[in-house]
Amino acid sequence: MSDPETRLAADRDVVDLGEAYRDSGLEPILEDLEGELIGLQPVKRRIREIAALLLVARLREKLGLSAERPGLHMSFTGRPGTGKTTVAHRMALILHKMGYARKGHLIVASREDLVGQYVGHTAPKTREVLKKSLGGVLFIDEAYYLYRQENERDYGQEAIEILLQAMENQRDDLVVILAGYKERMEVFFQSNPGFHSRIAHHIDFPDYSLAELMAIAELMLRQQMYRFDEASRDAFEKYLERRVRQPHFSNARSIRNALDRIRLRQAQRLVEQRTRVSKDELSRIDAEDVLRSRVFDDAMESGSPPRAAGQSEEA
Ligand SMILES: Nc1ncnc2c1ncn2[C@@H]1O[C@H](COP(=O)(O)OP(=O)(O)OP(=O)(O)O)[C@@H](O)[C@H]1O
Ligand SMILES: [Mg+2]
Repeated sequence: MSDPETRLAADRDVVDLGEAYRDSGLEPILEDLEGELIGLQPVKRRIREIAALLLVARLREKLGLSAERPGLHMSFTGRPGTGKTTVAHRMALILHKMGYARKGHLIVASREDLVGQYVGHTAPKTREVLKKSLGGVLFIDEAYYLYRQENERDYGQEAIEILLQAMENQRDDLVVILAGYKERMEVFFQSNPGFHSRIAHHIDFPDYSLAELMAIAELMLRQQMYRFDEASRDAFEKYLERRVRQPHFSNARSIRNALDRIRLRQAQRLVEQRTRVSKDELSRIDAEDVLRSRVFDDAMESGSPPRAAGQSEEA
């Protein structure tokens, strides 16, 4: 590589990854993902891997290496409230930044959006959703409800076939993410190997630990400009220990709901005082705002009959 001409030719075959990374706009998105989402280490790692793959694919294309679009359909498995929808929004943004989604929007759909009640209704419904999703991400929540093993004439089958076709034929303009409980998704994939083979990335969302749930609560409160004091923090830790063992617990979503009710109780307490209140009092959660939750009712502890579904979140 001594003479200048050879060196020039060699330079043309070099790309600056640092520069490409900075120009891609990935950094702020990945940083937000780190900062705004507690825990989820394995998920964040996979997202960074996928982002790296997309960046390298772009650079390879630039240098005339194989330009085939990497497989991008994904499955997000995990229990309710583990952050699947939130991460899917971030993924849509990443795909957009990297040029793999023209519009970068996310359409969330479940069985009722795709499958009709009567003959002839399913295909137009599914096609309509697909049309809306082009250029972005179609996120199918609880995808396994599309398939009803016990009923072979179920219209879900029709939706499945149209989706599979679109995942193949429109793969340059559509990314599909299937989401739901891990075990059910595995059964679904066994009965629908077509889906399994079209999915390039399977990402599993673990349940949060108590410490992570606590950190999520603190983060959510901070975002709303509220805060625990020492006593209310202790109370909330006790609340969590009980709440995670109760039915219908759904991770971060339950935290959000619990904080909504805590703010309600705080407001009620302050209004009942009918006194002057300081900025500090308006932002502070007191222990009693937490301890008045029904989660602390002894009746619930001693195995009283469970409340009807839907009400049970009002803990
Ligand atoms: N790791 C996290 N850190 C902070 N907030 C989180 C985290 N995970 C989820 N949340 C918040 O919890 C709520 C529920 O999250 P999300 O809707 O993404 O969960 P999901 O897995 O899609 O749940 P579902 O299966 O019930 O649809 C959202 O308000 C989200 O902002
Ligand atoms: Mg969701």
